[in-house]
Parts: sequence; C-alpha cells; structure tokens
Amino acid sequence: MIEIQELTKAFGGNIVLDKVTFSIHNREFLVILGSSGAGKSTLLRCINGLLAPTSGQIRMDGTVYTQKNIRELRRKVGFIFQHYEVIGNLSVMQNVLLGSLGTKSFWNVFFSREERVKAAEAIELVGLGDKVHVRVDQLSGGQKQRVGIARAVFQNPQVILADEPVASLDPVTSLEILSLLKRIKEEKGTTIVCNLHQLEYARTFGERIIGIRHGMIQYDGQASRITEADIRNIYGNAYMLEQGEREEEGRTAAQLVHS
Ligand SMILES: Nc1ncnc2c1ncn2[C@@H]1O[C@H](COP(=O)(O)OP(=O)(O)O)[C@@H](O)[C@H]1O
Ligand SMILES: [Mg+2]
Repeated sequence: MIEIQELTKAFGGNIVLDKVTFSIHNREFLVILGSSGAGKSTLLRCINGLLAPTSGQIRMDGTVYTQKNIRELRRKVGFIFQHYEVIGNLSVMQNVLLGSLGTKSFWNVFFSREERVKAAEAIELVGLGDKVHVRVDQLSGGQKQRVGIARAVFQNPQVILADEPVASLDPVTSLEILSLLKRIKEEKGTTIVCNLHQLEYARTFGERIIGIRHGMIQYDGQASRITEADIRNIYGNAYMLEQGEREEEGRTAAQLVHS
C-alpha cells in the first residue's frame, strides 16, 4: 500500500536516512524501532509529506508522491504525536473537529451535523464519551493522547502514523494507548505505523518490526522472530542500557497480565 524506495534524507551534510527501502502493508501493525536519534521521526515525517526526501521515492497505492499531489495523499494519512499537539483551551470536540481544518477554508470554519456526529463517534471510540465538552487542558496525559487519536480517527485515514505516542506516558497508560491503537486496527482496518524506542512494547504490539540505526534498516521481519543479534544491531552500544529498561517493562507487562 505504501512503498518506500531508497529514501534518503540529509540535513545539510548529515545523512539521517540512508537509502531506506521497505513496504507498509494493508492492515498491519508495523513498529519502527530504534534508539533516540536513529531517524524514526524523520522517516514518519517523510511518509506523511511533512518533509521532502533528499532522494528516493514514496508511493501510495501506486501513486508517486510529488509536490502536486502531496495534500491529496496526506488526506489518507493520520498522524499522532509524542506531545499530543492538542489545543489546551479548546474542548475535546473542538480539537477533534479542528483536525479536519486542513480540508476547509480557514475563514469558513463551519461544521455540519454529520461531522459532529462523526467526531462524537471517534471520541466515544477512544473512551472519552463523558468528556466531549471538557477543556483539553483539564485532561491527563493519557486522555490528551486519546484526543490525539480521536482527531486522527475522525479523518478516516487508511494509515495512522504514530510518532512515539507513549514516550511521555507511564507504563500502565502506555499499554492502554497501544492497546487502543491495536483495537482501531482490528475494528476499522486502519494500518498502524508506530515509532517506538522500547523493545518490549514493539514485541507485544508489533506484528512486524523494522529496526533502524543511524538511518539504516537493521531488521525487517515478524516481531516474534527478532533475535538477540538483531536487537544488538538495532541498539548498538545502547544495548546494555536498553536491557535494563526491558526488564522493567517486562515486569510491568507481566503484572498487568496477571492482575
Ligand atoms: N530538522 C532537522 N534539522 C537538522 N537535523 C535534524 C532535523 N531533524 C532531525 N535531525 C537529526 O536527524 C537525526 C535523527 O533524528 P530523528 O529522526 O528525530 O530521530 P528519532 O526520532 O529516531 O529520535 C538526529 O541526529 C537529529 O539531530
Ligand atoms: Mg523521534
């Protein structure tokens, strides 16, 4: 559905993505795994057209991304941010509706009844049905991320790109948010591409993992087949540090499963 071919992105002389080639399949939960600075955010921003590649090609349903069609392609893609990017002094409903502003004239912000119904459904789906008119700055981090997810779902995208959606959340809330993304994939058939730096979450929620380090793919395969050697290639020297973190996450996940 999305094909990425020899995608290279450089900032000045600094090559951040180096001839990255892979495909995103329909209805999969794909995790992009890598430590901080690996190039994960840059990759997602290229995929939704926020950044122009230095070289290489991205195709969606056979159509090559160009300056001319980028807006049309972007409409099929929802985005979820690490720091939520919600507007604090507006309500949940207003935040979700404003997600569609890109397709409306700024001077004519009018929302039809149909749009409001659709927004209410998205808000219900993410479990904020009792918070529709609450100001977003009164919500917890996990609830704010749910607003971010509802805003993406409201646009009815084929793909949701999530850039470290749980990096600012505690472990219990992180598992809830990743479970919600998984449920959206299953109920609505939305493809999920989720950046993560934590291996345990990647293994638990990813059907497929693409591991990157220094902008190069180190692993592309089933989550269940990733080996210790692959993990070492993905994390490099950060491996030992990551191992400590992994034990902690493993314990949290186990506690939740057994409680
Ligand atoms: N706009 C930018 N200008 C210059 N360098 C950037 C820019 N965005 C990212 N980088 C650099 O690209 C590298 C990868 O960053 P990023 O994609 O944010 O990695 P990750 O999301 O995996 O932590 C980093 O070294 C970062 O400093
Ligand atoms: Mg990042």
